[in-house]
Amino acid sequence: MLPFKKEIAARLASLTGMAAEEVETCLEIPPDPALGEYAFPCYPLARRLKKSPQAIAAELAGRMAPSEHLERVENAGPYLNFYVQRSYLFQKLLPQILQEGPSYGTLNEGEGRTVLVDYSAPNIAKPFSVGHLRSTVIGNALCRLYRACGYKVVGINHLGDWGTQFGKLIVAYRRWGEAARLAGDPVHYLYHLYVRFHQEAENEPELEEEARQWFRRLEKGDREARELWERFRDLSLENFQRLYHYLGISFDSYMGESDYNDRLEATIELARRRGLIKESEGALVADLEPYGLPLCLLRKKDGAALYITRDLAAAIYRHETYSFDRMLYVVGAEQTLHFQQFFKMLALLGFDWAGNCVHVPFGLIHFKDGRMSTRQGNVIFLEEVLKRAVELAREIIEEKNPSLQEKDHVARAVGLGAVIFGDLINDRIKDVEFDWEKVLDFAGETAPYIQYSHARICSILRRAASETGSSGTTAATLLHEPEEEALIVAMAHFSEEISRAVRDNRPSYVARYLLELARGFNKFYHNCPVLTAEKELREGRLMLVAAVRIVLRNGLALLGIEAPQEM
Ligand code: ARG
Repeated sequence: MLPFKKEIAARLASLTGMAAEEVETCLEIPPDPALGEYAFPCYPLARRLKKSPQAIAAELAGRMAPSEHLERVENAGPYLNFYVQRSYLFQKLLPQILQEGPSYGTLNEGEGRTVLVDYSAPNIAKPFSVGHLRSTVIGNALCRLYRACGYKVVGINHLGDWGTQFGKLIVAYRRWGEAARLAGDPVHYLYHLYVRFHQEAENEPELEEEARQWFRRLEKGDREARELWERFRDLSLENFQRLYHYLGISFDSYMGESDYNDRLEATIELARRRGLIKESEGALVADLEPYGLPLCLLRKKDGAALYITRDLAAAIYRHETYSFDRMLYVVGAEQTLHFQQFFKMLALLGFDWAGNCVHVPFGLIHFKDGRMSTRQGNVIFLEEVLKRAVELAREIIEEKNPSLQEKDHVARAVGLGAVIFGDLINDRIKDVEFDWEKVLDFAGETAPYIQYSHARICSILRRAASETGSSGTTAATLLHEPEEEALIVAMAHFSEEISRAVRDNRPSYVARYLLELARGFNKFYHNCPVLTAEKELREGRLMLVAAVRIVLRNGLALLGIEAPQEM
């Protein structure tokens, strides 16, 4: 955030009678730097003052004198545009970025507050498909963004490790299972058994009843059922953890659905005491109709608890344990109704913190051939997607830069970066169409484009043999080309983008921002020579690109993407 934002807010507040915080939220970042660093739309005031917004803008502009950071204010139609002092940008901010390095952009607005992020949460014995990729990638970025804002973050993987599918798997494994194949490749093999179960059950419907019985035995703690379940769970978890490690992701807790088994009864009891429970054909339900929501089933007539019962127990446990200020559930939009019911139930149970629970939904991911489904067997495994990404990246690198050192490392950073960014660049609520060529295009709206810009700067700095161009402020005074200004202004807004991304739980803001910054750099580099510029100017430009490198690197890290030095 630019230092004069608060100042503008305070001054406008005293001129208009609005609250300073309100002014601050109204301040926009104009799309074009020629319109200043901030713009204030006068429409809301027009209603209050019964004057045209244009007239208000003109009047206010005349009453805002320049100050240490504020160079000038102009009215443009219904807007007031604020311009920061150029000397501030180049002489103060630029050295500040270089000095702060990896911590540039971080904020403390979340200090003292705790956020829980429930994300990834694959289902054991159903595959970790690319559908879970979105939750993993978005959730990881949100964890990093919240941390950058000063929050204490707890990342939780609410493993889907309980449910009737285990009954099916046990039946399938007892009939057709081979221990060696299970140990060799558990995720694929369990999935294979899962699909086979459904195929066979079409001709042999009794299998379904058998599976229900096995699940009941599991619930009762039957030894054989329990042992198989544990084996399925442990083997799958190991495999997931390898993937997380590969992606550079770690969780603070792996407490899954099964870990709440001993708290379900108490949860149902609480609902009963609150008068929320009705019996319906042997099942226990809560009537949410008065709130415009469907009936909430908490326990089936065979005694089995449901997904939502576990979510209720987990939320209560988490509040007891972490006393969170906010809890995010990064889960697909197809579960919107579930979260509406779940949060409503929490409120009815009397938890005033129910309002701090937020569903962060996202759309589906398609690979040209339609929605992926676990049952039909046309699912695409995450592991395969990641491998393919890295292979393709490696081919591109081999072609573009055959003499590159550490090709494996770079291919991994680029391949994974492409997949992660290919997701995060989209508004999360929209469906994503995944296209290999698009996400790996070095000139497109991609991670490789940003990574390549970063590597290019690294190479400029290596050639200049001057890491940061530390000679300071005199060189910086020579920077005033429009491309240079655009770059420094963009960098000034970095932390604000982070803060906005956290406010709306939308990492796409930061993704988009980085893309623009990389474009700005390439435009600058095309028009303004660096290494061949005259001595002082060269020094100033080296400082500028060194700062861009820092922001690109920090920004990619916030999205969970590495920035190699060479590509
Ligand atoms: N395992 C679930 C699924 O794949 C997602 C769980 C999300 N987290 C939660 N607390 N409900 O659909």
